[in-house]
Parts: sequence; C-alpha cells; structure tokens
Amino acid sequence: MFVVIISTKLLFSINLKDCDSMKLTSEVRSTFLEFFKGNGHEIVNSSPLVPRNDPTLMFTNAGMVPFKDLFTGKVTPPYTRAASAQKCVRAGGKHNDLDNVGYTTRHHTFFEMLGNFSFGGYFKEEAISLAWDLLIKEFGLPEEKLLVTVHSSDEEAAGLWTKIAGLRNDRIIQIDSNDNFWSMGETGPCGPCTEVFYDHGEHISGGPPGSENEDGDRFVEIWNLVFMQYEQVSAEERVVLPKPCVDTGMGLERMTAILQGTNDNYETDIMTKLQTSVASLSSTHSSGDFAISHRVIADHLRAVCFLIADGVLPSNDGRGYVLRRIMRRAMRHAHLMGWKKPLLSELVSVLAQEMGDQYPELERAKPLTRETLLMEENRFKSMLERGLKLLDDEMEHLDAGALLSGHVAFKLYDTYGFPIDLTEDALRDKGIKIDYESFNLAMAQQKADARKAWTGSGDSSTDKLWFEILESHGVSEFLGYDSVSAQGIASAIVVNGSLVDHAKQGAAVIIVANQTPFYAESGGQVGDRGYISTENGVYIKITDTKKKVDSLHLHIGEIERGHLYTNDELLFGIDLEHRASVQRNHSATHLLHSALRQVLGSHVTQKGSLVAHNRLRFDLSHPKPITVKELIEVESLINEQIRNNGRVSTKLMDSATAIDSGAMALFGEKYDNEVRVVSIGEKDHSWSVELCGGTHADQTGDIGFFVIIDETAVGSGVRRLEALTGLAAEEWVRSQKQILHSASQALKVSVHDVTERITSVLQEKKLLQEELSTLRKKIISGSERSNNIKPITKLVGKVPFYGSVLQDVPAKDLKGLADEFKNSLGTAVIALVSIFDNKASLVVSATSDLVDTVDSVALVRIGAAAVGGKGGGGRRDMAQAGGPAYQNADQAIVEIEKYLTSLCS
Ligand code: SER
Repeated sequence: MFVVIISTKLLFSINLKDCDSMKLTSEVRSTFLEFFKGNGHEIVNSSPLVPRNDPTLMFTNAGMVPFKDLFTGKVTPPYTRAASAQKCVRAGGKHNDLDNVGYTTRHHTFFEMLGNFSFGGYFKEEAISLAWDLLIKEFGLPEEKLLVTVHSSDEEAAGLWTKIAGLRNDRIIQIDSNDNFWSMGETGPCGPCTEVFYDHGEHISGGPPGSENEDGDRFVEIWNLVFMQYEQVSAEERVVLPKPCVDTGMGLERMTAILQGTNDNYETDIMTKLQTSVASLSSTHSSGDFAISHRVIADHLRAVCFLIADGVLPSNDGRGYVLRRIMRRAMRHAHLMGWKKPLLSELVSVLAQEMGDQYPELERAKPLTRETLLMEENRFKSMLERGLKLLDDEMEHLDAGALLSGHVAFKLYDTYGFPIDLTEDALRDKGIKIDYESFNLAMAQQKADARKAWTGSGDSSTDKLWFEILESHGVSEFLGYDSVSAQGIASAIVVNGSLVDHAKQGAAVIIVANQTPFYAESGGQVGDRGYISTENGVYIKITDTKKKVDSLHLHIGEIERGHLYTNDELLFGIDLEHRASVQRNHSATHLLHSALRQVLGSHVTQKGSLVAHNRLRFDLSHPKPITVKELIEVESLINEQIRNNGRVSTKLMDSATAIDSGAMALFGEKYDNEVRVVSIGEKDHSWSVELCGGTHADQTGDIGFFVIIDETAVGSGVRRLEALTGLAAEEWVRSQKQILHSASQALKVSVHDVTERITSVLQEKKLLQEELSTLRKKIISGSERSNNIKPITKLVGKVPFYGSVLQDVPAKDLKGLADEFKNSLGTAVIALVSIFDNKASLVVSATSDLVDTVDSVALVRIGAAAVGGKGGGGRRDMAQAGGPAYQNADQAIVEIEKYLTSLCS
C-alpha cells in the first residue's frame, strides 16, 4: 500500500499577519538575510556542498560548517556577526535524512539552511531576542503558534524566553536528551540548543517535542539556536571554546511552507513547480498513488543538480557513490510511475529556472548536469528493469515482516547496480527488510575474491599491504579536479614497507588519506608534488604521488618537521606551479594527438606519453620519419588553437557512446563503463575529444605556446616527439636565439646571413681541402722530382724497395702518392706510412712486373701489425692498412722490408 499524502492546504487556515501576501521561497530567504544585515550581520554567500575546511564531513550538512574554524578560534573571524543561506545535503554520515524523503512532509536530501552566527559577540540573550523579532515582526507568525525547547540544564535560556517572548512555562519544554545538544559530527564545535517549534494545528496528528508522538507532522521544528560553548576534539575529549558563539539554523523550506499556509514543504512554490513538471513530463498525477514518487523525484533532483554543480560526479565510491545512490533512487520512482524514458535529465532546466537566480552555478552546470543524468538514466534503465523483476519474483514468496535473502540483495547490488538503500526503499511498502548478515558475508566474500584475482604490480608483499589499507579505510577520494588544497585524515602511514601508527621527523613516509587533491601518477601524467601539514606543526614534503590497487593515492615524502600520527587531520597543499605546468602539458598533448591525426592521417594512434611539468613526450604509430614541414604544420595548428583560447571541459560518458561519438581512446587500454571525456575547443566544435582521467588547463590559452623540440624513432613504426609549452617553450626559443646570435658573431654576419655564410664557408673549406691535398702530393713527390732525383730505393734481393714515413698526409692521399712513386721508378715495391691525426696509415704498392713475386696485401699486414693494427686489404699490386701505434711507424717499414727480404732471397 502506498501512503497517500493528503494536502492540508485547503483544510488549514492560518492566521498570519500578512497572509494576503504569501511569500515566495526567494522572498523568505531575502527577508531573513535583510533582517540580519539590518542588525549588523555580514551576509556571506553559500559555500559549496563539498566542505573545503573539514575532512571528516562528506557534505556540508549545516549552515555553520563553513564557519567551523571561526568558532574554534583557529581562524580569526573577519566579523563578529554573520548570516547566510547555505546549501546543505543530508544523505550520509551523522545527519542523514535520505530514508525519510518522500514519506514525511519535511525531510529533504538537499535543503537550504538560513542561519545567523555570532563569533564571540552576542550570546543567548541577543540570539533569542533577534529570533523572536524576526518570527513575530518580520514573518508575522502568531505568538500562540510557537513553542520552544531548551536543554534541561539551560535555565538561562528558559528564563530568557520568558523575559523576551513572554512565553508561559508550558510553552518552554525542557529536554534532557541529545535532541537539545547539537554537534556537527563526531568532532567539532557543539553546545546546548534551544529549538523553536511551530504548531500546525490540531487537525494534524503529532505531539509536542518530548512527547511520545513528537515525530508527527503537527509540531515542526523551524529554528535551532545553538549556543556553541564546546569543541568535541575526539570521542573522549571535549574542550571549552575560547569564546562562546551562536549558531542558528532555520530550514528555509519549512519556514516557507508556514508562510505559504501549508505544513507540507512539498507544497511550497519551488517544490510544487518541480512536481508539476514531473507530472506533465511523465503524464501522471502528483497526488494519489504516485505522490511519494513525485516528492522523491523533486527532492532528489535538487540534490543531484546541486551536487554536480559543486563538482561531484557519479562514481562507485565516496561522494560520487552517494550521488549515484540518490540518482538511482529517483530513477526507481520514475520507473514505478511507469515512465520508461529519461526524466531527471529533462528537469534540469526547470530547476535552473527556479533557483538559478540565487545559485548561478546551476545555470553554469546545466549542460554537464543534463548530460550526466541522461547517461546515468540510459545506463541504469535495463539493469533497473531486470533487477526489479528479480525483486518482484522474490517478493512473491515473502510476507510482511520477512527478510529478503542477503544473497539476492547482494546480486541486486553487484549485478544490477542497486544501492542497498534503493532495495530497502523498494521493500519498504511491503514491510520486508534485508537480511544484512548474509548480505555482509557476500560482500566480504567478494572482497576476498577481488584480492585473490588482483594481479597488481607483481610485488605481492606490498600489494597485500595496499589491499589491507584499502579494505580497512576505503578508497582515497580524489578532490583534485576542482581543488588544489583540501583537508583529509591520515588513514595509514607506511615506513619502510610496514604500516606504523606514527612517524618521526626525518622519516621517509608514504601517507594514505581518506581524500586528497594530489593527483596520483596515471595515464602518462606525473603525480603531484607539494606538502602536507597539520595543526600541530607537522610538515611533510611530498615529492611524488602514486596510485595503488586502482584507488589508493600514496603520498610519498619525508617528514621535515614534527611527529605524524594516524588519524591526524592533514592539510594538503599542491605545488601549484608544478601542477599548472603539468596541466598545460596535458592539454597540449591532447592537441598534439589531434593535430598529428590531421596532418599525418588517421592511422596515427598514441603509443605512450609522458606528461611532466617541464616537457611532454608523445609516442605515435607512424611508419616513417615526420618531416620538418609536417612538424611545422602540427605546431602551427596547435598554436592556432592556443590563440583561440577554447575551453577545456570535462564530462562523464558511457565509454561505448564516447568512443562511438568519436572520442579518441587508446588502443589496448581497458576503460571503465563510465569514462571522463575531455573536450577542447568551442562548444559543439570541439577540436579534440579524448577519454582521459587527467587534469587539464581551463583554457587552451593557458598553454601559452607550443614547440616541438625533437623527433626520433623508438621502434619499428613508432616515432617519438618531445615538446615544450609555456615558459619552457619560451626559454627553449630563447636558447635557440642565443645559439644563432653566437653563430652570427662567430661568423661576423647578421643572423639573417648565417645560413648563407655557413654554406659558403663549407664550400670554401671543401675547395681548400682539395687544394691542400694536391699541394701535399706536390710537396712530397713533386719537390723530389723538381730536383730531378728519383726516390732512392734500395735493392732487396733483385727488387728495388722504397720505404718512407711521412707526416700529416691523409690516408686517402697515400695511394695517389704511391702511384706517382711507381710511375717515376718504373719497377719497385713502395711502402709508405703516414702519421696523421695520431694514427698510422699504411700503403704498400708493387709495380705490375713484380706482382708474381710480391703480394702487397701480405706486406701491408706485416706493417699494420707493427703499428698495432689488425688486418689490411687490397690487391696484390696495392694494399692499405692502419693502426693506432703511430710511434712505431719506422718499425713498420723495417718489418715490411724484412718480410720482403724473406720473399726475394
Ligand atoms: N547547526 C545547527 C543545525 O544544523 C544550527 O544551525 O541545526
């Protein structure tokens, strides 16, 4: 049976002072803020839903969260009083309203909290006085409709309500439970509170706070005034805050409901508009059987859109998984209404229209939100249908009060992607619960199987350690797509390959945290560097970040100061310059990939890449060297894109759809079903679309300038390019300019004439070498001839022999000289050894009449051996050799002669 929510609007008549001017949600918000502004409060914009200053919180769950450090005195408040309308999500952790949504009139996953805050300024008296004035004078609530609770220990607050508001004792209810002691989470500022309740009237069931029936809808808490006096430091330790503070929180939706004459938040202007849109899109009615579904969808839509606008994207862990759970719950409700087409994605614009004035991020994130939702809806559709069929079949055999087998719940979770709370929600109406014991067993078994199947790095000892850390502490949630600094909790410290609970100054450590903005090396992009510090003065220099077991970020570094303990709160700071340079190079790598395909052809695929801070390297398939002309073309295409300053945008897509639509993927790479897709260029005209999990520049203009500095071969059919961007590219160009300048100075010409000058110098050098060679020959042979003296031979047996050691005659000229000597002598064996360039070169030559007797090759080898050379070659009439031991040149002649003697005797 569905619970039917009956509208109380018509049954209920409110006696408000200004009931004729029903306030819109936006007017209630502005009335609140204006009132506190008029009372000296600084109006502070809402912070994002992912807390920047608190590593223990999943989402901002109260208006005071952004001010936490001001309450604790960690940060000196720039003002003593402030007021805000803060976006909040309560869908996990200490404050979790997910299960109530749709089934009550006043619970939401996303809501706005209106609050006023005093940081060591006013305390209880002024807080109560301001609250009463706003409620009575500005909002015009009838006094008799209001009652309050106070903590039973807080006589002062009770007395003030009597003094300021004139409330009778029966309207001041003493509560001694934790309901009147507020804390943000397990730790953080806290204190006793006083809550204001609105009585919606007898016609609604429910009792006053503290009564048995208090959960009914009649008495609704509208404002909580917390008197922050303490800070819960740990489970055991609570300290007094330096200055008592005030933190108040009013649910905007609840107050709006009252001012719009209803007890039902879902009948206020924004929620009504959303449900009307759900109804018209899905052709269903928002009352009757589908009332709950309409409410759930309207509520969840807000949570989903605001989370995506604040940088959360669906995933299988951490915040992304909470987002996915909320989406999928909403999808099941759409399915319940018989609506089989995407619905949530169609509603994004409606919400942006309703709330975009106050929250412009909704408008900015509209395309991303729409596409993300569409993808999730399309992907989950068939799993949802099949999973619900399985669940229906199971439920046929189960009566109210029975337990659904944990194995079935696990199958729904594991195979059909049903978050456990979705299954619970689906069973709720039938009064069936889940057998959690067997569900947890099945989950534990799956983890054990995953561990066994993990192939890892091959280093089983450390893989085991990382697995243990993963299992006990969960993944490291990566915040670095949106943040460069963040806080986290040290979940594990590893020193010398072992888990330790603390590490001292000087230790080389690996730190794992629950969340981190540090990018861990993957996809070619190097890991982030930077520092991690703590409030206790610990300072750790992080030199690298690596990823293990797919989802653990390992911060590798050395403790430069202090002692680090597990569970310490860490402040992460990325080396911004390093990260920015890496990002420039990463976006440039995508441009390079695309440009290469345009210039060289679509056969080009990426074969590997390195994206570092000071350079990028890109290996590509291409069968031949890339010509200079092609490289220039590639460079200019990229620099043109840089000048166009196109946006670099990221979205999540189904991997198959992404690849089908032309996004470049790496061959051989295994992609998850859902992938990040990075597009570069103008909207709808993306110049490059690529599957990529890395981080990128915001705009192509950030790259500054791109230059290719090297092109080489790395294997058959694979070329390697090295390139620089930004400042490194500029410096490289400057160094090239410097080289050119030095060359021009050395050549004594302008830089424009350097090439011409080098060409002519080389030409001159060639001519001079030829001339020199001729002259040398002339000097050696011609001079002797000019004296009409033939080279003086000696007779070895009957063979005339001429042997000589020459200085500085190049080897190539020796043969010519030997020929000249043979010509002038007519019959002879010539042996010439030249000392040139600290080496000895030998030639032995015999006139043709002697070749039967003399083998020049054998002779030259004998000479070569004397100068430490090996071998020698040629013909019987002319042979050449060489050797390093030029000092033995004379000896070589002696050896040749000796050998010749042995031949001719
Ligand atoms: N922090 C308190 C609450 O969330 C009052 O703002 O209720």
